[in-house]
Amino acid sequence: MVNTDALLHPRTLNTARLRLEPLGLRHLEHVMQTLEHQEFMRLTGTHVHYTRFEVQRLLSTLPRRNDRADWAIVRRSDGEYVGEVVLNELDVFNHSMNFRILLATPDLVGQGYGTEATNAAVQYGFQVVGLHRIRLGV
Ligand SMILES: CC(C)(COP(=O)(O)OP(=O)(O)OC[C@H]1O[C@@H](n2cnc3c(N)ncnc32)[C@H](O)[C@@H]1OP(=O)(O)O)[C@@H](O)C(=O)NCCC(=O)NCCS
Repeated sequence: MVNTDALLHPRTLNTARLRLEPLGLRHLEHVMQTLEHQEFMRLTGTHVHYTRFEVQRLLSTLPRRNDRADWAIVRRSDGEYVGEVVLNELDVFNHSMNFRILLATPDLVGQGYGTEATNAAVQYGFQVVGLHRIRLGV
C-alpha cells in the first residue's frame, strides 16, 4: 500500500550538503525568484505565467496534500535556498509517481546538488512512500 501519510507529512531529509525541508508559504519569495529564469522555465516545459497569488495559493495548500510531496532544497552550510523537488502525480493503483526538480539559479548548476537532492527524494519515494515506480519527464 502507498503510505499517503508520508506524502501528507514529508520528512525533512538530510544529505551531505543539503537539507530537503517541506516546501511551504515561507519559501514564497524564493519560488517567485526561481520562476524568473526563462531558460529554466523552458527546460521544465513551463509555459504558463504563474502570478504571485497563484503560487501563494499552491504553497498554502501543500500541507494538506496527501498525493504529492514537495521539498525546498536548502544548503546546510549557509541556509541558502538551492531549489525545489517534488514527487507528484500519484497513481495509487500502480504505486507510481512523477518526479521533478528545479534549481533556484543557473549559477547553482553543475555542482552535484541535483544528484544529491534527487537521490534523497527518490530514496524516500521507494523506501518510505512505498512506490514501485518513479518516472521523470523532461
Ligand atoms: C537538471 C538539474 C536539476 C540538474 O542539477 P545539477 O545540480 O545541475 O546536476 P549535477 O551537478 O548533479 O549533474 C548531474 C548530471 O546532469 C547533467 N546535466 C545537468 N543539467 C543538464 C542539462 N540541462 N542537459 C544535459 N545534462 C545536464 C550534468 O552535466 C551531470 O552529468 P554528469 O553526471 O555526466 O557529469 C539542474 O540543472 C536544473 O535545475 N536545471 C533546470 C531545470 C531542469 O532542467 N529541471 C529538470 C526538468 S524536471
